Amino acid sequence: MEALERIGLRDLKRMLDREHARYIVRKYGGRCVTCGKVTQSPQCGHLLSRYSETTRWDTADDGNCHCQCASCNMRHEADPSVYTEWYIRRNGKKAFDALVRRHHQVANWTREDILAMLAHVTGTAATAGRKEGLPEDNLPRHVSDGQMTHAVNNDRAQAMTLLVEHLRNKKVPTHNSQVRQLSPFCYPGGKTLLVPDVLKWLTALKTKPSLFVEPFAGGAIVGLSVAAEGLAQHVFLSELDDDVAAVWQTIFYGKPSDVQWLCKQILSFDVTRENVIAVINGNPRSTPERAFRTIVKNRMHFGGIMSASAGLIKNGTAGRGLKTHWFRETLVQRIEVLHGLRDRISFEQADAFDVVKCFANDPNVVFFVDPPYTIGEKKPGALLYTHNEVDHERLFALMASVHGSVMLTYNDAPEVRSLAERHGFCIESVPMKTNHNKIIRELLILKP
Ligand SMILES: C[S@@+](CC[C@H](N)C(=O)[O-])C[C@H]1O[C@@H](n2cnc3c(N)ncnc32)[C@H](O)[C@@H]1O
Repeated sequence: MEALERIGLRDLKRMLDREHARYIVRKYGGRCVTCGKVTQSPQCGHLLSRYSETTRWDTADDGNCHCQCASCNMRHEADPSVYTEWYIRRNGKKAFDALVRRHHQVANWTREDILAMLAHVTGTAATAGRKEGLPEDNLPRHVSDGQMTHAVNNDRAQAMTLLVEHLRNKKVPTHNSQVRQLSPFCYPGGKTLLVPDVLKWLTALKTKPSLFVEPFAGGAIVGLSVAAEGLAQHVFLSELDDDVAAVWQTIFYGKPSDVQWLCKQILSFDVTRENVIAVINGNPRSTPERAFRTIVKNRMHFGGIMSASAGLIKNGTAGRGLKTHWFRETLVQRIEVLHGLRDRISFEQADAFDVVKCFANDPNVVFFVDPPYTIGEKKPGALLYTHNEVDHERLFALMASVHGSVMLTYNDAPEVRSLAERHGFCIESVPMKTNHNKIIRELLILKP
């Protein structure tokens, strides 16, 4: 009793939010009432907004609160019809009208009322307020009351719903030719095929994001496309790799003479096996020189892989040697276009976690997060990048905590799905094509 007596009314209500959500989830066995699925991160859905306290902590079947999965709870923000229809089917229109009327009444809960509700949902009516406070149950810590999704603004929820619908209808991967190629890299694990999906998502937002952050930038095709299309006020890229960073630093921060030098090197490069090896083994003394070496490495190494283990392409296309991989005019044209966009793009050689933390409290930021895939049985990212160790648990926790919208991309592994569910993300998949023209599905892990 003493423990609860010391707690202010606001904190008591927060406690009630949490315990009530657990109660609702437990009551329905974690099964979403609208889609019927049992997921690892069930939530307490509110049919009518949780801002009205009269109906915020309902526990009856014909009350305002029922168990939902994160996806259905999020979709309800933009399209309340599914949940409403379920409710009316189950409880009748009269019950619905009564709920709406009650919802619009002013709540006059006293401290005793809140304590009584708390005792009810924790099953401690007889011992409510015992010294140690309220008991913990064995539901996962992340079971949320849907507060996060309900606090999300409607515009963002609606844009996310449209994206989810689009992804669910997408049966074949994007074709390369459908994307404006902007990056000078042919990046291993690059997300060119996701560009139309991300642009669609951002186009659906009524308010342009103040910032689009791509913290694991690599070849950065998504961030570059967002900048080129003007779909965010600014784009921020970060990357740890020294070689990759040299390219972005030259293009976005180099003097015009540096960029001209780089373009001239590309145009005049005599592509023979000896010259390629000489450049790759060379010791660049300036950032533009390093940028040139990186581009040679990226274009001449098998699969664009620049980490130490990678080898040179053998015979080029149709056995015509390395020359067939050196699209000099195309490379120069892309570099010039990007240099022209430098006012819209910032780049920092920095750790993704630090960068995300910098922008974590701004709700107008959109994060596109494509880390090395080093989780699950196969760990495909481990051989592709010099920097490939990522604490994925920490990354999910961080991305769940930011105020802005999030899209993470991942390989479809049970470990990834479990992390995403535990942190309350919505999980969708998208068809992608591998370098060997195999169609696979990758995960898009979303938060509006
Ligand atoms: C999957 S790739 C990104 C590919 C990119 N989305 C594209 O389309 O080209 C992941 C990148 O993250 C970088 N990286 C790994 N750990 C990092 C970290 N802690 N901070 C920043 N970048 C990191 C790797 O060097 C690699 O370039």
